[in-house]
Amino acid sequence: PRLSRRATLLGLTALAAPALIRPRNALAATGSPFVQPRLNEGRIEDGRRVFDLTAAPGVHEFRPGIATDTIGINTTFLGPLLAARAGDRLRMNVTNGIGEPMTLHWHGLHLPAAADGGPHQEIAPGAVWSPEFDLMQKAGTFWFHGHQHEKTGAHVWAGMAGVLRVTDDEEAALPLPRTYGEDDFTLVLQDRRFDANGQMPYAMNMHDRMAGMQGDVMLVNGQTSPVLAVDAPLIRLRILNGANGTFYGLHFADNRTFHQIASDGGLLTAPVPMQGTILSPGERGEYLVDVSDGAAAMLRAETFGAEVAMMGTTGTPDVMEIRPRSARPAPTLPARLADVPPPPDATGEDRRFDLAMTGMGMMGDFTINGRRFDHSRIDFTVPLGATETWTWTNTTPMLHPMHIHDVQFRILSRNGQPPAPQETGLKDTVLIRPQETVALRLSFADYADPIHPYMYHCHILEHEDAGMMGQFTVV
Ligand code: C2O
Ligand code: CU
Ligand code: CU
Repeated sequence: PRLSRRATLLGLTALAAPALIRPRNALAATGSPFVQPRLNEGRIEDGRRVFDLTAAPGVHEFRPGIATDTIGINTTFLGPLLAARAGDRLRMNVTNGIGEPMTLHWHGLHLPAAADGGPHQEIAPGAVWSPEFDLMQKAGTFWFHGHQHEKTGAHVWAGMAGVLRVTDDEEAALPLPRTYGEDDFTLVLQDRRFDANGQMPYAMNMHDRMAGMQGDVMLVNGQTSPVLAVDAPLIRLRILNGANGTFYGLHFADNRTFHQIASDGGLLTAPVPMQGTILSPGERGEYLVDVSDGAAAMLRAETFGAEVAMMGTTGTPDVMEIRPRSARPAPTLPARLADVPPPPDATGEDRRFDLAMTGMGMMGDFTINGRRFDHSRIDFTVPLGATETWTWTNTTPMLHPMHIHDVQFRILSRNGQPPAPQETGLKDTVLIRPQETVALRLSFADYADPIHPYMYHCHILEHEDAGMMGQFTVV
């Protein structure tokens, strides 16, 4: 039943091999109270919202008494929840305290390429990088993470990531849960594996090189199996898949129906009912969960890697238990959410991207249009103001969540079929399954720069670091 659930969610017809069982280690479930990232609204200075972020080595207790070396941003693992409003002028003061070059990228934001924090905005050890830009997003759940050339996987694995929450008037006018820590919760989902000393070295074996780093310990904001006690009958979960290489098939143990209200770039047109959904590395979703019956709801994730079609599941760990303190009637969900206009008409190029594996077996390379990433090669340029169609074809036997900087795009079709309702909104990361062709529509507006490129890449960080990435400029 486990395989067929995932197969259904993925739209796969055949899953060949039995489940890959991995040993559980000493860090098992705790049942400790859920802890959210600390809310950080920055400070207002000369009309700008300023955030001070320092990445530095930390020691984090994933379990009481077990000290693990990490990297944190203003804390020991991950970062604060940055809260900003649409239209804010932002200034990010990023201090590199990790002792080696790093970058910090604002995933999902539309902004000038020089402020993007990709591999070309390297921050030297001890230096401060202070990009300033307008926050052009709609209300939604965005994030930030390390993006150092060939070190993205290692830096994120150690903890260099956090969530940026954007609010706006359109969202504020809707009857949705939005009280932080009461009915609105942010969950960064990750998995890690720990060695006998409680450390989580970034040490890849052959399987990790192919499928991405995966762990056997499920983490929510750096916690294992927390319990969230709530009074509210209807709660909102903002979930980020912050894993290096793991896909999460989210569902509740009792198969209750929940509703997705937002995708990567903001609200959908209407709540989408579901009993399960796949969140790929890099993707975000916002969900409403009705706990008005007073019964505990166990959020679970079926975890699997990019090689899903070949190897099967790696487990179905408990993510978090939601424990209502009482039963009470839930408000009705709004029938309509945001205005999401149809995808804009194309005015520019039709570009094709072929995802492929070259070489033999476990030593294979991942390529886009036959090429590995080259830090000094601009793969193509896009004219400012163009609306283009980008069509991705995956000829590998693996899943690839493809992410494009600078834009929130729209999904036109999957293998010629219209996207599922939860994929009709704004997206910056899209899962491309084996043998799939996915067409996107993207508009490139506002920012041109002949020198600084934007990246597009697989968000399995080990695929990105291995070269499944390209770069374009907008001119
Ligand atoms: Cu979330 Cu180029 O990254
Ligand atoms: Cu990004
Ligand atoms: Cu990939």
